[in-house]
Amino acid sequence: MTADSQLAANQGQPVAGSEKIGVIGSGVMGSGIAQVMAIAGHPVVAFDVDPGVVAAAPGLVAEGRFGIQGAVARGKMTEAEAEAALARIDFTTDRDAAAGVDVIIEAVPERLDLKIQLFRDLDKECPEHTILASNSSGYPVQALAVATDRADRVIGWHWASPPPVMKLAEIVRAPQTSDETTETICRLAAAAGKNPVVIKDSAMSWGYVTNRVYGAMIREANAVVAEGVASREEVDQLMVDCFRWPSGPYGMVSGATTGWKAGKK
Ligand SMILES: NC(=O)c1ccc[n+]([C@@H]2O[C@H](COP(=O)([O-])OP(=O)(O)OC[C@H]3O[C@@H](n4cnc5c(N)ncnc54)[C@H](O)[C@@H]3O)[C@@H](O)[C@H]2O)c1
Repeated sequence: MTADSQLAANQGQPVAGSEKIGVIGSGVMGSGIAQVMAIAGHPVVAFDVDPGVVAAAPGLVAEGRFGIQGAVARGKMTEAEAEAALARIDFTTDRDAAAGVDVIIEAVPERLDLKIQLFRDLDKECPEHTILASNSSGYPVQALAVATDRADRVIGWHWASPPPVMKLAEIVRAPQTSDETTETICRLAAAAGKNPVVIKDSAMSWGYVTNRVYGAMIREANAVVAEGVASREEVDQLMVDCFRWPSGPYGMVSGATTGWKAGKK
């Protein structure tokens, strides 16, 4: 059943999981985002320019540390549900396949020039109704919106690593983003088990809320280390012991950039 026929069958009301999702960039974040959206019932086309990434992604999603088989082992999902979710994801190097969707979630490297060019291209390639969401860690969403002729359908949807585990859905609303786009993305995030919080886009800063506040902490941690007050390892241990955080500030950086594959930091 296509997304349109599902909508029609439901008398115009969207059904959970009916939207077709395109994920652009299938690295640490994109592969996990594809997994989450497939588990939520969406057909997902996950595109990457690197054939090696495309070849490795299905194994990661099935058997990786935060993969679907782990959810089966913990009793959160049946084997049949896992197989159905895996079958809903198409990892591909065919960008046209990823463009013909209802919602794009962009997860290419954190380079503004790359993201602007991608949004410019996707605006031409995607159907008119398609929402373009960015998983940027902090670039102003309005910089991406103005590269398109669909600024009302451009929004930030910032996830945390690893996507299958973390509840973060920092929804960044640019001045041009419409109510409808914001509501759709919040609905999709909530249906996928996340906690959407809508924040205002800022042209004057990098990091939205999460990474601005986190950046302030890292700057102070670096000052502590530079002054010789404590080592990085000691800072991490103290913050874990004091605040019951799962990781200290330095462990957080290495975990996020490796997808937490090496074990808990
Ligand atoms: N890693 C994290 O903890 C984290 C958390 C939240 C948000 N983010 C953000 O998510 C985005 C992706 O980060 P990541 O850690 O997954 O990076 P990554 O390097 O693991 O993955 C990026 C992928 O994009 C692919 N790519 C590059 N150019 C492309 C293009 N033009 N089209 C399609 N694919 C392309 C690369 O081949 C790579 O596989 C960044 O904006 C990052 O800031 C990362």
